[in-house]
Amino acid sequence: MAIDDKTYDELREIAARYPQGRSGLLPMLHLVQSVEGKVTPEGIQVCAEILDISPAEVSGVATFYTMYKRRPVGDYHVGVCTNTLCAVMGGDLIFERLKEHLEVGNDETTPDGKVSLEHIECNAACDYAPVMMVNWEFMDNQTPESAVRLVDDLRAGNEVHSTRGPRLCTWREAERVLAGFPDDLADEGPSAGKASLAGVEIARTMGWTAPAGEASAPTGSTADTKVGAAEQADTARAESETKAEAGQAEEGKS
Ligand code: FES
Repeated sequence: MAIDDKTYDELREIAARYPQGRSGLLPMLHLVQSVEGKVTPEGIQVCAEILDISPAEVSGVATFYTMYKRRPVGDYHVGVCTNTLCAVMGGDLIFERLKEHLEVGNDETTPDGKVSLEHIECNAACDYAPVMMVNWEFMDNQTPESAVRLVDDLRAGNEVHSTRGPRLCTWREAERVLAGFPDDLADEGPSAGKASLAGVEIARTMGWTAPAGEASAPTGSTADTKVGAAEQADTARAESETKAEAGQAEEGKS
């Protein structure tokens, strides 16, 4: 599918959201993926044209981040975290089991195009290890058995909900959301899980609070005075260095 006028307009709309248009490149590439199923040469060309940068610059970004795909992925892109904590908690086993069950390797898609598999790095969700992701939504506390059930449900077209988010949509739909076009599902599901909130709850029970630091000190405080004094000292040092350099330059002339 080619980049049509509607997509072209939406790419321009994304670029216009930022004071520097090129800051919009990441969501623009997500939009390209939502339309083309991957980052295509045409998508790279169009982004470069809109942002007035070179295709090589766009390509450099698209090949740096693993969320940008140069080959089509499945309707449901399944990531298994095999980073240290998830690995020892069962992530390696899950990944091996899914490869065997789906008969695909890393970064490969099932012949029906429904599921692709990728081993991924830490998702900052170690408190729910071992963690999987489907189209970037969390599936927490998985086992090899639950992982197999999950991919079977996805292939069968059954409705599946993230353990900490909304019902799962297709990869292309998720890519459109990442491009900044919401699907209004963001409020489905819990916003934070029990494990992530455990520390806060313990602190509340114990009456612990964060120590007051210099960063939070009110204006006119001792901290402010110290910062002001340090700035003055810096300015004085810079002035004296400038004078010394100017003096040396004068001596050099004479
Ligand atoms: S190691 Fe898997 S989420 Fe951190």
